[in-house]
Amino acid sequence: MSLSLRILRYFPCRRFFQRRNNSFLRNFGVSASLQHKANIKDGPGLEHFLANSVIHKDLEPPPEAEVIIPYLDQISGDGQKVFFDVYGCQMNVNDTEVVWSILKNKGYEKTEDIRFADIILVVTCAIREGAETKVWNQLRNYRGIKNARAKLKDRLPLKIGVLGCMAERLKEKLVEKEKSVDIVAGPDSYRDLPRLLAISRDNQTAVNVMLSHDETYADVMPIRLNESSRSAFVSIMRGCDNMCSYCIVPFTRGRERSRPIASIVEEIKVLSEQGIKEVTLLGQNVNSYRDLSEQQHFFSAETNMAKGFKTVYKIKKGGLRFADLLDKVSLVDPEMRIRFTSPHPKDFPDEVLHLINERDNICKNIHLPAQSGNSEVLQRMRRGYTREAYLELVDHAREIIPNLSLSSDFICGFCGETDAEFDETITLMEGVMYNWMYIFPYSLREKTHAHRRMEDNVPLEVKKSRFERMSVTMRQTTERLNKSQIGRKQLILVEGTSRKSKLDYAGRNEANLKVIFPAEPIPESVASVSCREIKAGDYVVVEVRSANSQSLQGKALYHSSVREYGSSAVGPDTRELRAKETQSAVVI
Ligand code: 5AD
Ligand code: SF4
Repeated sequence: MSLSLRILRYFPCRRFFQRRNNSFLRNFGVSASLQHKANIKDGPGLEHFLANSVIHKDLEPPPEAEVIIPYLDQISGDGQKVFFDVYGCQMNVNDTEVVWSILKNKGYEKTEDIRFADIILVVTCAIREGAETKVWNQLRNYRGIKNARAKLKDRLPLKIGVLGCMAERLKEKLVEKEKSVDIVAGPDSYRDLPRLLAISRDNQTAVNVMLSHDETYADVMPIRLNESSRSAFVSIMRGCDNMCSYCIVPFTRGRERSRPIASIVEEIKVLSEQGIKEVTLLGQNVNSYRDLSEQQHFFSAETNMAKGFKTVYKIKKGGLRFADLLDKVSLVDPEMRIRFTSPHPKDFPDEVLHLINERDNICKNIHLPAQSGNSEVLQRMRRGYTREAYLELVDHAREIIPNLSLSSDFICGFCGETDAEFDETITLMEGVMYNWMYIFPYSLREKTHAHRRMEDNVPLEVKKSRFERMSVTMRQTTERLNKSQIGRKQLILVEGTSRKSKLDYAGRNEANLKVIFPAEPIPESVASVSCREIKAGDYVVVEVRSANSQSLQGKALYHSSVREYGSSAVGPDTRELRAKETQSAVVI
């Protein structure tokens, strides 16, 4: 066994790894116990991330256990090819970029063609049952490919790894139910993947689902999956402490922790040098960001939270906040657009709103997940605000940022939701006039507060019809808002050729809405007569000519820049339409 060290006792090996890699050691307890699956309890278990001890007692193998530990230094991919299959949110895309960076560093290669893959890594999502069903179905397909591959004498056996939130939630159930799975790795154990993969080469199943209090992968420079894109994601924090009663995320991604500001700024500088024109700061709760390694600020907890908002957890004090981060990040490259997602409505102090308004390169676009428009439902969801507080925040944000575009998340059919309560979600949607909405029927998730204490008692048929009403409301509102932009000029970051026609380009406006326009040379600037071709990564001013609920179509007028356009101050302005609409029937 060339890559492995066979040891007979567990504790000497622990000391060995302590010297080499502390965070690796934290994860070791679980993976070492893979030959002792019976010791692992079902489900995500709060104690896995709440406990202060780094290794859970139940997960330690007995001292005499025989454990096979490959030397970290010697673990090499030897050019094995990895195929990534990514599900779920943008955070999963970014996590995959972190995983790819870790594996590339160890000599693995990436393939886009599953036929050449030696390893398939499925990066999973557990937020709703539907997301998990998709993965189970895909795993069955992969089992077929794996069995067919096993018959080929000249190929290595295909290995299948399940990563991310589903791995964390289901742990060894995944291995038991889907026998073809060789590796199970939770969101905080990606550094351990080379070792887990090495273990799986010996035909053993490798599991590491230990959550961490401090893992942020701060020192791992992600390698972008879509290298031609001019947009990139940068993870700024991980985990969530909010414990909304319906949500599995705090259980699958663990406690909230922020990545140090210096490493974020450094990554964005590198991206700027690579020609990246748009960065989205990512996290489960981006605006709760707190870099506690920098103790410059000391302020009372309340100053970060608007009136009418509260949390279920103890607020962190000191350190650098989201406003400080946004300030520093937006100064890196004034021609780089900055976005962030997802924030929580509770953490929007005026300082953040003013900064968004003042900096040309921070998009005037906020994702403000409401989840429901009814205060009682919001209370059952443990969101920490009422309908009124939320609406006050919307008004206040629009006062400070006049041409602000908003998007939101909504859930229908949450435990006990009555028709009258649901109606308030619809009136909130209509009243706020979001530029985009993500809508979901409630999906019961084990281990959550709602699972333990409430009844999932809204019938499926009712959930479906409420979902349909939300969807109609969304289409109608976005279409009206988009049509109100006809005749206006907008600054568009060009993404490339449109998927539908090679004769068109596609790009995004500040509200992150798709804008399509003909691919023809345009003047180099507003005052120029000489024309040049448009290419991906250019900023162009487009006049909107038509619109539907999902995109705008227009004509590119001239090349521009964030600074030049910012000073001319014409944005995707929906104020007029909103003023008209709110005078009409909508009561909010
Ligand atoms: N059921 C339906 N939607 C959910 N979300 C989170 N948990 C659930 C659930 N159990 C939605 C919320 C959240 C978005 C990412 O997913 O709207 O903001
Ligand atoms: Fe889930 Fe609420 Fe945290 Fe968002 S804020 S990840 S909805 S618990």
